[in-house]
Amino acid sequence: MKGFHQRKPFLLNLTRMSKFSSSNFKNKKALIRVDFNVPLDDKYNITDDTRMRATIPTIQKVLNDSGSVILMSHLGRPKEGPTEKYSLKHVVKHLSDLLGGKTVLFANDCIGEEAVNKAANLKPGEVLLLENLRFYKQEEKGDEAFAEKLSKLGDVYINDAFGTAHRAHASTAVIAKFFSPENKMFGLVMEGEVASAEKIMHKSEKPFVAIIGGAKVSDKILILENLLEKATDIIIGGGMAYTFFKAFDGQIGKSLVEDDRIETAKDLMKKAEEKGVCIHLPPDSIIADKFANDANVSSSLSNTIPDGWMGLDIGAMAIEQFSKIIREAKTILWNGPMGVFEFEKFQHGTKEVACAVAESSQDGAYSLVGGGDSVAAVNQFGYANKVSYVSTGGGALLEYFEGKTLPGIAAIQEELQTA
Ligand code: 3PG
Ligand code: MG
Repeated sequence: MKGFHQRKPFLLNLTRMSKFSSSNFKNKKALIRVDFNVPLDDKYNITDDTRMRATIPTIQKVLNDSGSVILMSHLGRPKEGPTEKYSLKHVVKHLSDLLGGKTVLFANDCIGEEAVNKAANLKPGEVLLLENLRFYKQEEKGDEAFAEKLSKLGDVYINDAFGTAHRAHASTAVIAKFFSPENKMFGLVMEGEVASAEKIMHKSEKPFVAIIGGAKVSDKILILENLLEKATDIIIGGGMAYTFFKAFDGQIGKSLVEDDRIETAKDLMKKAEEKGVCIHLPPDSIIADKFANDANVSSSLSNTIPDGWMGLDIGAMAIEQFSKIIREAKTILWNGPMGVFEFEKFQHGTKEVACAVAESSQDGAYSLVGGGDSVAAVNQFGYANKVSYVSTGGGALLEYFEGKTLPGIAAIQEELQTA
């Protein structure tokens, strides 16, 4: 597992972002909202610990200052209160390993007597993890009384859960009001994520190439519309590309298509033309006779796919064209794979795009890779350390690039801006 890595750190806006690094947590209880919503297999092994590893420097800084750490997080989407499957006790051992074998205390509840006592008795240098916040419905409802109870556990509130920053929940946003401005801040993950996303969104050097992939146009409409205001080129790959081909009377066989998004696709192409943004669709595709790794495979122009066949990856011409555009970019945002890369036969396009992003980054472009699948791809193909920044955010990153205000960021950033 590779993953979270900031290859070329750039200067944060120091007046706004350095609060955490310049704070001293000696004898303070730091209540840190992290996103430990990690994937677990049937035996509760963590299959991708990127989000956990990302928070270690934040935790370590507080401990090094002789402060104590109280971690709170959600895991999954429990519907019925406490559920074994969603207990955060499953991550205690791994957290302890990541902290070099340090003991990690655990409270079987995030509020109530046990949590209060364990938090109160915490000594400098100790770490306590609270049970899943979502075992209480009040968390997702953003309940004030619940947020206030959580707030009482610590002296300082640190939000380091970028992955959950798009949720206006009790622990991510509402809780901030119970801390004075000097006692609430972002942690290092949040600082890094926000700085990276802002660099792309507001300080991008041109050419700015956005690579957007994935299965559905409907998931990506808002981000595409917003990128039309920012990007020089937009590369579209993955299943969503075939809705665009169909919109212009292409024959797409039985490729994935959203018939109710055909007008949207036409509209996006028209807007791009008006704004002088180049949209690049894959001229050719790797096609298959069924959605499976053992399918029969061929290649075809993307707008003349024979009946009974479907596009599952971009083709050789597309790879060449996309790679050239990516190598000339100064700023790159990549969200979504180019094909069904979990099947070996259809991973070539995504792998080559990952390679082009890595090479361009090594040549000086700034690249941000975000969204579960594209992050999994750079990890799988060994390029995570060769791009500028790998985000820990899925939905949160998408919403950021849709131009939305993320509640988890706003709850703290507004204070920082007026401070
Ligand atoms: C995520 O993985 O998207 C975050 O941890 C937030 O979880 P959620 O989508 O269940 O709110
Ligand atoms: Mg989500």
